[in-house]
Amino acid sequence: MGTMNLQFWGHHRIVGSPREIVIEYGRILRQKGFLPPNSRSRKQFVKMSEAFIRKPKLKEMKAVKVLIDGEAGNGAMLPRPIMELYETARDFYVYVEENEVLGCCALHIEMENLAEIRSIVVKSDQRGKNVGVKLLQACMDEADDLGIERVYALTRVPDFFLKHEFIEIDKHKLPHKVFNDCVRCPLFPDCDEVAMVHDLRPYNPSAFEIGQRSEDDAT
Ligand SMILES: CC(C)(COP(=O)(O)OP(=O)(O)OC[C@H]1O[C@@H](n2cnc3c(N)ncnc32)[C@H](O)[C@@H]1OP(=O)(O)O)[C@@H](O)C(=O)NCCC(=O)NCCS
Repeated sequence: MGTMNLQFWGHHRIVGSPREIVIEYGRILRQKGFLPPNSRSRKQFVKMSEAFIRKPKLKEMKAVKVLIDGEAGNGAMLPRPIMELYETARDFYVYVEENEVLGCCALHIEMENLAEIRSIVVKSDQRGKNVGVKLLQACMDEADDLGIERVYALTRVPDFFLKHEFIEIDKHKLPHKVFNDCVRCPLFPDCDEVAMVHDLRPYNPSAFEIGQRSEDDAT
């Protein structure tokens, strides 16, 4: 079946088969409040396909941990304690097929205008099927809805983000606060992660960040 590429509300782009587009369109309508979350139409969508990108159920966070920790073993990301994953469950989107969590991605808010894309993983046998890009898009749509100006990722796969309209910046230009997690990393402070950013709207560093820069300049 052919692939379609439709754009809704300016920034919602849906790429996929007609069936995937119907499902994704339903998700957007529910997210925008045009459909109630448990409407009959949602059940009809469920019948059409059992693959979704959606917010996780708490009981699915153990599967999210397995995905993340699997990549932590490869050095792609930090392992996340399960309690932290429960606390940040609302940051996540998951890709679920036949009730199995096959991918995840999180949008973590750092400050008024800045959020991080983190923990993006697709199960190894599901890669190359556009799951990663759809998870990324779900997080970017949410960032846009929240009015976030800049989204960044600290990554060892910059090419994936380059393909999706991120650009590389000097990671020292990110506010110090975003490196809080890094002290837990075995590679700290000799980290080889690259900072990638995508500006959804003009980025104005917050007063907090400007204050931090002036302190740096003084030392
Ligand atoms: C990175 C990752 C999430 C991509 O997921 P995926 O489902 O395989 O990606 P998609 O199928 O959606 O790929 C979309 C596009 O990105 C490209 N892409 C995917 N992985 C890439 C990579 N590692 N490097 C460069 N480009 C990549 C694809 O070729 C595709 O390009 P196209 O649209 O021109 O065909 C997945 O490879 C993964 O889980 N990697 C291990 C964890 C990891 O390193 N995460 C990033 C840490 S920040």
